[in-house]
Parts: sequence; structure tokens; C-alpha cells
Amino acid sequence: MPLVPRTARSTMSNKEGHLVLNQSAGQAIEPPDKSIAVGTGKGGVGKSTVAAHLAGHSAEAGYRTLLICVTGQDDDDLGIKRFGRGVHPPGPSAIDGQGLYRAIHDRVPLQPIREVRPNLDVLPGGPQVADISNLLMLRMMQEGAGVVLSLARSLAPIAPLYDRIIFDSAPEQDSLEQLVLGSARTLIVPTRSDDSSISGMERISKNFKVVKQQVNPHLQMAGAFLYGSNRAATLMHADVRKDIRATLGEGTPILDTIVGYREVPARNARKKGLLFSEYADLLPVSATPADVRAGRATGADIVPDTITPLSKEMRELTTEIFEHCGSVA
Ligand SMILES: Nc1ncnc2c1ncn2[C@@H]1O[C@H](COP(=O)(O)OP(=O)(O)OP(=O)(O)O)[C@@H](O)[C@H]1O
Ligand SMILES: [Mg+2]
Repeated sequence: MPLVPRTARSTMSNKEGHLVLNQSAGQAIEPPDKSIAVGTGKGGVGKSTVAAHLAGHSAEAGYRTLLICVTGQDDDDLGIKRFGRGVHPPGPSAIDGQGLYRAIHDRVPLQPIREVRPNLDVLPGGPQVADISNLLMLRMMQEGAGVVLSLARSLAPIAPLYDRIIFDSAPEQDSLEQLVLGSARTLIVPTRSDDSSISGMERISKNFKVVKQQVNPHLQMAGAFLYGSNRAATLMHADVRKDIRATLGEGTPILDTIVGYREVPARNARKKGLLFSEYADLLPVSATPADVRAGRATGADIVPDTITPLSKEMRELTTEIFEHCGSVA
């Protein structure tokens, strides 16, 4: 199939000299190399946590990385909003999903918040992402299936600036899931062990097939992984693997690494806008219970020891995901 090149031919200038994207619906756009969508149809399984860590670890390894959060809820794992991290683009705000919405609404290139960490730029999610869904529905009536490539079109002009692009996605919203799948080369699916998480994979599986058939033939399934589970429960894990394969297909790769369920360090790290590894670095300067009793510190100043295994497991997981995505792409 003839593909629209990712740079010059996918853009043109309007009368005011602003860059406007090629609006012809249905034209295929080759997704960027090394672009990974984290997605499943169930909420609360760890998508945003894993997407933020994939992006953070990639940037830390020296790859120019872009994280795009197509999510109505901004968990702010990187502390952009709460701690003012990153260099914001000039003009209207890019936080709370506003930057994403504007780019898609105005059909202009994405303008990320830059250097949230060295080598890491981010388009944050937030409430205005919900409006993208409505916009796409309206446009779908006039433009047809090509609207699913709206994000891919806004991404194409800046994609060559990055070595890796990571997408976080929203659950239970077909149009937003499809928007992400229309822009990425690989999909990685997290799940928890409960039945509703497993059936949540049916939704992403259906959207994967539709998007691959109709607008993004380059999309590949990189695999699935069990997240936030007791690492010793190996018999249960074997059962869950069967369920995953029954849902996503017998040939679906299933990753070996399982990040354990560790609520306290996961919650604290998010509240501080730190990746697990960054939070683990604070362990040597953690307050102690004695400091709290003496009134020198509060409970929030105690870094739990369990951040060490959590950080290590997350590092293993992101390494394995990059390997899998690299081998299928
Ligand atoms: N290893 C872990 N152990 C326990 N809790 C965790 C772990 N990792 C993340 N969490 C917590 O689990 C909750 C859900 O995680 P997360 O927000 O990443 O899921 P999600 O799939 O993105 O959710 P949503 O569908 O609402 O966007 C969060 O409160 C997060 O801090
Ligand atoms: Mg999320």
C-alpha cells in the first residue's frame, strides 16, 4: 500500500503560514519506528504506571523519548502539574489534555512539554481528552474511518525528533483506544489476574483487529503481561496465562516479569511525581519512625523499604517490554 511519508508530504501551510496537516481521510500513515502503545480495555491495571516507566527508563538510557497520554485522568506520575516539571510550549496550556485536544482539533502538530526529564518530552492527559472522543464522532460522519489517524497526523511532523514514542491509553473508550492504535507500531497489554481484567482484554483485542485491518496495517501485538500480582503465586499465573491466550490468541507472547503488588511505595512514588527508581534513590535519606515520634518528620517522609524490589521489578519489566517490542516491530 502506498504510504504517506512521515514528514514533508503529510503537512502544508495555511494562509497564515501555520502548519496544517494533510486532512485526506483514510490515507495510511506509517507509524513511527519504536512506538509502543500500552493498552487494555480495563481500568486500573497499571497502564499509566507502566507507560510512565517505559518512557522514563528509555529517556534515562539516552533515547530521545516522547510520552503521549491519551487518558482522561492525569495521574501525573512524572510530577509535571504538581511540581511544575518541564519546559511548557509558548501559548495556551498543554496540561490536562489541552495540548492533545488542540492539536487534533486544529489539525496541527503536537507541541509537547519538553525536558520533563533529560531526553523526555510529554503530552499529558487530562479531562479535555474526553472532548477528543466527541470531536472524532462528529468528524467520523463527514470524514469516515480516517479520523482514527488524527493523532498519527499530528504526531507525524515531530516523530522524527524521537528515538522512542510511548502511548498511555484510556480504558473503556473505543474511540480513544483506536486513536492510539492508529498511531503506534506495537501494542503491549497489561492485565491483572481477575476475570474482569481478562475480559477487558477482549475490548483491546477487538480494537486492535479493526484498526489493523482498516487504517494501520503496521500495528503488531508485542504481547501481554501480568501486573501487580503476588510473584509466588505461580499456579495461578499459569491459569492466567491460559486465559490471556484464550482472549488474545494462542500465539500471543506473554512476558516473564511480574511486578509484585506493592501498594505503599507505588502510591507514595506517584504522589511525589517520581518514578520508582527515583523514589528508591531517596531511601538513604529517608526519615525513620523515631524521627516521626520526635516530631522531626511526618509519615510521608518515610521511604518504605519495599520500593527497592518494586523499582528492580519495574526495571526488569521495561527492559523485557523493549526487547519484545523490538523483536516484533
Ligand atoms: N506494583 C503496584 N502495586 C500496587 N499498586 C500499584 C502498583 N503499580 C501501580 N499501582 C497503583 O495502582 C493504581 C492503578 O494504576 P494505574 O493508574 O497505573 O492503572 P491504569 O490502568 O492506568 O488505570 P486507569 O485505567 O484508571 O487509567 C494506582 O493507584 C497506582 O499507584
Ligand atoms: Mg491510566
